[in-house]
Amino acid sequence: MKLLTNQQQLIGTVRVPGDKSISHRSIMFGALAHGITRVTGFLEAEDCLSTLKLFQALGVKIEREGMQLVIEGHGIEAFRSPRQAVDIGNSGTTIRLVTGLLAASPIDVTLFGDVSIAKRPMARVLIPLLQMKAQVSAREENYAPITIKGTNKLQGITYRMPVASAQVKSAILLAGLHAKGETIVIEKEKTRDHTEDMIRQFGGDIEINGKEIRLKGPQRLIGQEMMVPGDISSAAFFLVAGLIAKDSEVTLPNVGITATRAGILEVIEAMQGSLFIRDRDLENQSATLQVHSSQLQATIIEGALIPRLIDELPIIALLATQAEGTTVIRDAEELKVKETNRIDVTASELRKMGANIETTDDGLIINGPTKLHGAVVDSHGDHRIGMMLAIASLIVESGTVELLNAEAVAVSYPSFFSDLGSLIGEGL
Ligand code: S3P
Repeated sequence: MKLLTNQQQLIGTVRVPGDKSISHRSIMFGALAHGITRVTGFLEAEDCLSTLKLFQALGVKIEREGMQLVIEGHGIEAFRSPRQAVDIGNSGTTIRLVTGLLAASPIDVTLFGDVSIAKRPMARVLIPLLQMKAQVSAREENYAPITIKGTNKLQGITYRMPVASAQVKSAILLAGLHAKGETIVIEKEKTRDHTEDMIRQFGGDIEINGKEIRLKGPQRLIGQEMMVPGDISSAAFFLVAGLIAKDSEVTLPNVGITATRAGILEVIEAMQGSLFIRDRDLENQSATLQVHSSQLQATIIEGALIPRLIDELPIIALLATQAEGTTVIRDAEELKVKETNRIDVTASELRKMGANIETTDDGLIINGPTKLHGAVVDSHGDHRIGMMLAIASLIVESGTVELLNAEAVAVSYPSFFSDLGSLIGEGL
């Protein structure tokens, strides 16, 4: 795909689509619960549709009614073994969370995915689940396909997490909901807490004390009405676009800004970006975000902040190429096991456009500001790398940008290019 270049100005408002993490969980909790769950703002993107189709294959009735998704839950006992192995596409959240959820179900299932999923580590989920006496296995004990033989004999455990991962935490908690006794998870760093929030929202019992989370099984959940706010990880691309493009003003209503996800807002403030947060909705944990073109300063991004912006690091790296000074991102080795190795791919693709960016064992070092130029760049099939490169093309001063594998954006944001086009004033 050929991208627009030549220092575009961005003016306008984009309503980014629903949060991916919450949309996945809305189906999982709706299916686990008893009664009807109605979801407004569900993200209709490839990853969440993988979760939707998986639960339909398990016999759960899920239908669209106007703007809502309606899930008819009859509890975990009602799931049926699908006739064949289920393809979950590119979705790490689906395969990891569902492995925990189904470990305590009455069914047998094999889950597989695309070439990226086949390289992503699964032992981090299997190890605690095996300690809970789950019957789960994987290729080379670490990779998809994963085979789950459901059992109602799971036991609660106390698990100190070796990695900061909301997917691992959630898999254990979802298994713990139907295990005997108490499950205690102690996090390495606090990660996104949508699973904990939704256990409460669906009438479950969970105790959270800093990084320690406790629940007792078995629990019975009840269907709910829920609203999914806009995804801050999608909004991040337009936040950065508005900050680095010339003479720009971008407004993003209804973006989820729950504390465990809002690290990018702190980074923008530390970099002296012009950011306004308005219309805070405390119940929905959302707000309107507005940014203006800014003179940016380098910053250091590390430690407990990393899990709060882990998916935003590629686009933050682009932001740093336009900031005065040296930005250091460290403690982010988890980036190596995302949809691609995002440390290597972010650096190599931005370098093709003239960025001054080095990789380290656990992050990136970016010197700025640098002028970017045209190049042929590649998403490598990673949605967030594709969107980051599309935003980079807006500030290219010479040459043209061609983005290979642009269709990967549909994993989390199918309307990304038309929303970007609406800010430029002409369709892309
Ligand atoms: C997610 C957790 C994070 C994140 C992913 C979504 C979730 O992954 O990168 O996009 O919804 O729980 P890890 O748990 O691997 O950090």
